[in-house]
Amino acid sequence: MCGIVGYMGCQQAYPILIKGLHRLEYRGYDSAGIALIDSNNELNIYKAKGKVANLEHFADSKNISGTIGIAHTRWATHGEPNDTNAHPHVSQTGSLALIHNGIIENYAVLKKYLQDRGVVFRSETDTEVLVQLIGYLQQTNNCDLCTAVQQALREVVGAYAIAVIEKGNPDQIIAARKSSPLVIGIGEGEFFIASDATPIVEHTQQVIYPNDEEIVVIRRGEPLKIVNFENIEHPHQIKHIDMDISQLEKGGYPHFMLKEIYEQPQTLIDCIRGRINPEGTDVILSGVMDNKERFLNARRIIIAACGTSWHAALIGEHLIEELCRIPVEVEYASEFRYRNPVIYPDDVVIAISQSGETADTLAAVEIAKKQGAFIYGICNVIGSSIPRATDSGSYIHVGPEIGVASTKAFTGQVTVLSMLALTIAKLKNSIDPQLYRKLLGELRSIPQRMEETLKLDAPIRELSKIFTYARNFIYLGRGYNYPVALEGALKLKEISYIHAEGYPAAEMKHGPIALIDEEMPVVAIATTDSIYEKTISNIQEIKARKGRIIALVTRGNHEVARFADSVIELPETDERLAPLIAAIPLQLLAYYIAVNKGRDVDQPRNLAKSVTVE
Ligand code: M6R
Repeated sequence: MCGIVGYMGCQQAYPILIKGLHRLEYRGYDSAGIALIDSNNELNIYKAKGKVANLEHFADSKNISGTIGIAHTRWATHGEPNDTNAHPHVSQTGSLALIHNGIIENYAVLKKYLQDRGVVFRSETDTEVLVQLIGYLQQTNNCDLCTAVQQALREVVGAYAIAVIEKGNPDQIIAARKSSPLVIGIGEGEFFIASDATPIVEHTQQVIYPNDEEIVVIRRGEPLKIVNFENIEHPHQIKHIDMDISQLEKGGYPHFMLKEIYEQPQTLIDCIRGRINPEGTDVILSGVMDNKERFLNARRIIIAACGTSWHAALIGEHLIEELCRIPVEVEYASEFRYRNPVIYPDDVVIAISQSGETADTLAAVEIAKKQGAFIYGICNVIGSSIPRATDSGSYIHVGPEIGVASTKAFTGQVTVLSMLALTIAKLKNSIDPQLYRKLLGELRSIPQRMEETLKLDAPIRELSKIFTYARNFIYLGRGYNYPVALEGALKLKEISYIHAEGYPAAEMKHGPIALIDEEMPVVAIATTDSIYEKTISNIQEIKARKGRIIALVTRGNHEVARFADSVIELPETDERLAPLIAAIPLQLLAYYIAVNKGRDVDQPRNLAKSVTVE
């Protein structure tokens, strides 16, 4: 996690860097810092614990002049969040300043090596080791900064996206990456560096995505150069990015999360656009069509993901198994990567990730690739690491998701998985043509049904008041709605800090039902589907133990109201697509409970949006 940003050009760097940090604050926000070189060639560094606003407050009255600088917003890994551990870190002599996103795994060995040679450390971070090593090598070997960076990175084990500047040299930034994201923006006589494109797009749309173990040499008045550790120049490709800046603003909503919940009818339209034909008779996911033999011959499909993306994967498992009759295994990417999984060359591995940067998911992709499987990515952030590492894939096209709690990305992922299952099922002839057409029609009507669901905002806000002080929550669902229960529980815990668990409703009697008493709110997803009756029996069992039931039902259902404490009526849809609707009231419920509790909804404690450390 952590966000890095850098600038060199003709403008004052400070306002550009601070704005960039705000854009990247979703990546981590426990401390922030900035380094600038002024017109006297002095290196001025300011750091502050807490959010970027604290840094601004502290630095605004200082010397913040200079047309070159680097800045950082931190999600602590090594060392608690405080001013000392905040980046930028400096070398022993104070001549170099460095920012870093990633983890230096062999930092302890390197630190000992440097300490034995008289280097004194100031912070507890792994990052300081890197800047101290670069400074030490530069001095010992009497070389320029780029050479010292190349030498140092050869010794490093781990992940990094770094930028380094040097006192006395206001005309150069050296940046590099391995397994952590880095984007370079190219303007008119100016350069931008960032962890993603959001701080860059308002300045330039020309970007470069450096590859692993590449070093970017940015010098004033010269074209940018990319070299490897041996100083051999690598060709680079300038890409054009298109991003609507208004998507990066709250647009009148109090929080990004609420804005993103409300965007879902439109993001769903964006997601299916150009994939389902205007007549609604066919769906074509080009990534699948271009590789149809791989899907048709797949021995099985493995889906690797984390968090919300893993919940979407569980829905994908149901869809693909039911409609395509291909066995599917869903894996936590973090477990998959370390258990020496059996992967066959005729497996298809699908990696799902909103950010496209999740370290565990990326590692799962690399492992599966080495074993010859075909790798398909389902991601949101265009040009991010996972889409670049996969053989093919589909973007979910929901626009930037900034709230840490994933909302529109979840429904986008489920939508792409639905289209993927339908595309393969048609290719395989494993779906009845009538059902195929029905599901396409249903999918096209989901935005309208989402609009109707969003009208439940006011009653859900009222309902949230009753449960603001609950200490625990249980979420229940079955079939396609079981992953929605997991997702509802995750939403609540991550933004309200209330303990919540999701269970398959029938599992309750195997243990968790012991938790039920009159204090326990139970959110039960009981929309009309093929196992509705079974779900109802499970809910009755909870009621018999005096649990407080909040039931999600299909509009017109009067049965559940007889025993549920509160009922939320949802528009009817096919059960296979019901998660796209049922997720919304759960997002709203979590949101309003968190707001009632005064939580920092968009940037909840201890979390970051993009988990680039394992
Ligand atoms: O970017 P990814 O989809 O790979 O992220 C995976 C998880 O970190 C993410 O879904 C996380 O669980 C969300 N904060 C949940 O709202």
